[in-house]
Amino acid sequence: MALYSEKVMEHFRNPQNVGSIEDADGIGEVGNAACGDIMRVYLKIEDDIISDVKFETFGCGSAIASSSMATQMIKGKPLCEAEQLTNQAVAEALDGLPAHKLHCSVLAQEAVRAAVKDYYGKRGQKDGKIQV
Ligand code: FES
Repeated sequence: MALYSEKVMEHFRNPQNVGSIEDADGIGEVGNAACGDIMRVYLKIEDDIISDVKFETFGCGSAIASSSMATQMIKGKPLCEAEQLTNQAVAEALDGLPAHKLHCSVLAQEAVRAAVKDYYGKRGQKDGKIQV
């Protein structure tokens, strides 16, 4: 049996939403100390909807495939949905990842959540509520 699903290979060979957004509303950068991989997610938000999302990943093939899938899953979606994105959902959408590569999908989850948090931080909001 192949170690990686066809979907993982597809997103690794032809990743979607690669790049950066110059005037991003939220940026999340995370890394995994054990493997040294780094992931950065950029969000453009309009009316609480993710109108655009890009990523830069310095990492393994599974991290690239996870970033590609995660950004596809949140593009055009409300912020609250992006906040709920889990690494399990990303791994499932990729038709699974080998157990020792699941942390790559965790990185995608964390990068998306960090970008959403950054957006709320810049807007002076937290959990969708204005901070006073
Ligand atoms: Fe660390 Fe893939 S090996 S993110």
